[in-house]
Amino acid sequence: MRRSVVAGCGAYLPERVVTNDELATRIDTSDEWISQRTGIRQRHIAADGELTSDLALAAARQALANAGIEGADLDIIVLATATPDNTFPATATKVQADLGNKAGAAFDVQAVCTGFIYALAMADNMLRLGQASTALVIGAEVFSRILDWDDRSTCVLFGDGAGAVVLKAGEGAGTNRDRGVLSTHLHSDGANYKALYVDGGPGSTGTAGFIRMAGREVYKQAVVRMAECVEHALDANGLEHGDVDWLVPHQANLRIIESTGRKLDIPMERVIVTVDRQANTSAATIPLALAEATADKRVREGQLVALTAMGGGFTWGSALIRW
Ligand code: UT7
Repeated sequence: MRRSVVAGCGAYLPERVVTNDELATRIDTSDEWISQRTGIRQRHIAADGELTSDLALAAARQALANAGIEGADLDIIVLATATPDNTFPATATKVQADLGNKAGAAFDVQAVCTGFIYALAMADNMLRLGQASTALVIGAEVFSRILDWDDRSTCVLFGDGAGAVVLKAGEGAGTNRDRGVLSTHLHSDGANYKALYVDGGPGSTGTAGFIRMAGREVYKQAVVRMAECVEHALDANGLEHGDVDWLVPHQANLRIIESTGRKLDIPMERVIVTVDRQANTSAATIPLALAEATADKRVREGQLVALTAMGGGFTWGSALIRW
């Protein structure tokens, strides 16, 4: 059976770090409120003129180097972002050009904080079907550009960054012990469109916009949905909670992460956490966490890694990977 095997990961975080204390000098908030409610201590913010494509390219180059693959040899480039450089063309095509790739197909996927799992699912399905043999999957965002700095209930929560993963098609027996993406599960419910959205933006409204969020509602749904779709993934593969070596959840709030871990009976020692240092980078949180945990050798070949995310739409989803 053909599967998508992870060949390398990469990450990029803008140089500038903004601590909670620095934010508290500009808006009516405190380090105590932010860290107690969310676990966030700092975030990285892109420099003036630094675009989503710049962040994506830096993460992509690192992932390709770790995978030992040239950009020119990629069959597909899938970029998850809610903050593209321009309305069109896809930011992925900019990355494609900068990587010197001419033979492949590059496109963006928009599922906000679940974007990386959606992009991974697109790439995985194309690899399984034989439409591609190598794929670059990126999550990249500059959420700092769509924050309303007068809204303290949202602007303290987000940061900028990018992560990338290279996938290569591999052949195996197709059991849950064989390497590769075992499954992806995607969901959305547009009835919650206005619980987390940007009130404008490039496209049909013709206005610029900022993030608006019903924080409590998002919180309540996140703790249910993120655990639920990992359960579905484990059931679909004949696996149990105890089989998961690493849970890599979307990083929005430490309390949501802890609660997801509790529901799944996975102790925090087996959960990758970056939200304290990076805040919520939307589609980039999961590949950033994977890049960190593979670089420091926590995540190793043969282990079972469960990804889960929930975000605007609402969208939510999971992926199980035998690393
Ligand atoms: O990727 C998915 C996207 N987002 C999320 O997953 C976020 C999900 N939601 C959350 O993480 C939480 O709901 C928040 C962190 C956004 C808020 O935490 P909460 O415990 O639900 O607080 P709250 O919204 O109920 O606000 C409590 C109080 C309010 O004051 P009053 O009305 O009780 O006097 C807010 O005005 O906290 C106040 N507040 C702040 N105070 C200081 C809100 N933001 C701040 C702030 N600093 N930055």
